Amino acid sequence: MRIVVMNGPNLNLLGSREPEIYGLQTLSDIELLMRTRAEKLRVELAFFQSNHEGELVDAIQSHRDWDGLILNAGALTHTSVAIPDAITAVGIPAIEVHLSNVHAREAFRHHSYLSPVVWGQVIGFGFRGYLAALDLLYGRLTDEANA
Ligand code: DQA
Repeated sequence: MRIVVMNGPNLNLLGSREPEIYGLQTLSDIELLMRTRAEKLRVELAFFQSNHEGELVDAIQSHRDWDGLILNAGALTHTSVAIPDAITAVGIPAIEVHLSNVHAREAFRHHSYLSPVVWGQVIGFGFRGYLAALDLLYGRLTDEANA
């Protein structure tokens, strides 16, 4: 089983970026935690981060044969039509992750263009949300395999 984890703009700055909102873990810390968990589950993981919308669209397209997508699109969540279109086009089951509770923040963060095309959202649990998303996708994919 292959799951790709994608992060959008400014998430490369995790650890130093507004740590009171996003936590002290860097993206590499999160990657290490996820790789440790994925090894136990025997899941192959790939990681991708970009500050550019088109690069995220390219990455989604190029993982079209993968089994699942975990995506924190950062601010593009609230602005992009191309990213949800790419998810729909490739048909990969996807989970949307946000470190912060976007619903407790500014109004412009309350709307997600991704929400209609993802399987579900994990919001507000900090780095733990990525690990939860991995377990949730694993559960879905193994259920389907056993059905
Ligand atoms: C974020 C929330 C977004 O509103 C923000 O633009 C981000 C990070 C989060 O993980 O909480 O860059 O996606």
